[in-house]
Amino acid sequence: MIKNALKYRIITYGCQMNLHESEKIAGILCQRGYTECESDNDADLIVFNTCCIRENAEKRAEGNIGALKQRKKSNKNLIIAVGGCMTQQKGYAEKLHDEFPFVDIIFGTHNLEKFGELLDKKIAENLTVIEVKEKEDKITEGTPKTRTSYPNAWVNITYGCNNFCTYCIVPYVRGRERSRDPENIISEIKGLISEGYKEITLLGQNVNSYGNDLSYANFPSLIRKVSEIEGKFRLRFMTNHPKDFSEELIKAIAESDKACKTVHLPVQAGSDRILKLMNRHYTRKEYLDKLEMLRAYIPDIAVTTDIMVGFPTETEDDFQDTVALVREAKFSGAFTFIYSPRKGTPAAEMKGQIDEITSKKRIMQLIDIQNSISCEYSGKYLGNTIEILCEGYDAKKKKYLGRDVYGRMAYFKGDNSLLGKFVNVKITKTGGMSLIGEMV
Ligand code: SAH
Ligand code: SF4
Ligand code: F3S
Repeated sequence: MIKNALKYRIITYGCQMNLHESEKIAGILCQRGYTECESDNDADLIVFNTCCIRENAEKRAEGNIGALKQRKKSNKNLIIAVGGCMTQQKGYAEKLHDEFPFVDIIFGTHNLEKFGELLDKKIAENLTVIEVKEKEDKITEGTPKTRTSYPNAWVNITYGCNNFCTYCIVPYVRGRERSRDPENIISEIKGLISEGYKEITLLGQNVNSYGNDLSYANFPSLIRKVSEIEGKFRLRFMTNHPKDFSEELIKAIAESDKACKTVHLPVQAGSDRILKLMNRHYTRKEYLDKLEMLRAYIPDIAVTTDIMVGFPTETEDDFQDTVALVREAKFSGAFTFIYSPRKGTPAAEMKGQIDEITSKKRIMQLIDIQNSISCEYSGKYLGNTIEILCEGYDAKKKKYLGRDVYGRMAYFKGDNSLLGKFVNVKITKTGGMSLIGEMV
């Protein structure tokens, strides 16, 4: 008989969406009297909230789940649960159960709000509980949340994705796009601001198509409504899709005193042929034109991006188009990825998969180029005083840290009373993506 477990650990992989969903799982557990613990060794319940965007994300999670086999033998009361995007893949829950029969609960993204009930079932019956739903019935509101990223708070605005980029697994594991009612979003944000949160990050796979499934809301109007909420706070949102990134939205950002002067606008590739094969619905020129329009309205905007190398059939010329775009676009930062074939997606079936050595060579080159652009960008901060929202402490660097409105991270000496406060920091040293300074 398994006794009522009381200490939990949640191990999260993947994107901000997953980080926030782990806060919901934590909320459900806290409501049942569980408390978080620092180490796996002390835990009575370990939850893996997984990601399957690339193979290495999956391998990492599987390795860590496998490593618990011995612990489970020596502690029969330990409960192990696996949820998230990985388990939503067709046939994966069964595969996981075969490979790791010691996993007690397997659940998905569409029923994570029911995690408490699955846990009760496990404890009552002591049998493996496998429940993965193909679809979410309707958006669940009011799930308790134990937030972990103060002074930032994540707020869902859409779930799922309709875009079907040919490389991407997300639409298969997250389902079709659903938008939350704007009233619910606004009232959640008002609550968060009154609780003292200083930064709100709106979350969706493509925030720009927010409201497409509602007749009475769209993203620019949501930005305007959130900006009207009283109090000093910063507004961020991710991720944008270039095809839906509109002038109306740019105006809403430009006119908002809350919206940060930074936009994450994933380009993925600089070759029109590859963009087409990716099903991205824009050309290189259209992307650069949107950047130009954005910078015309907000000259100091910091733009970050995602770029992939090694997409099937990518030639050296295609890759050089990406390099040229990166040089031209002057991103303040970029996340770079090697394409990873995902089972069930069209790109995984394409002829002309690129070998690892070529992809690695390309990504190194790209990282080098972007690094020098990022350094140059950081260099401009030297001697400037910027307003930082203090968000944490870096034990290794022995410094407090936080970002400015452009999303640049700065490190400085301080004390715990600064957490969640806006502080002025004079930048004395720059390098790479981060800045070092002193409070003034
Ligand atoms: N919805 C967001 C984020 C998707 S996942 C968007 O469209 O921008 C984040 C990033 O992971 C993507 O922008 C893409 O660059 C990368 N990615 C997605 N699928 C991938 C794959 N199969 N292999 C490598 N990188 C991938
Ligand atoms: Fe994936 Fe494309 Fe949807 Fe982003 S927009 S989640 S890359 S399918
Ligand atoms: Fe990964 Fe799922 Fe996010 S696949 S990137 S955790 S939506």
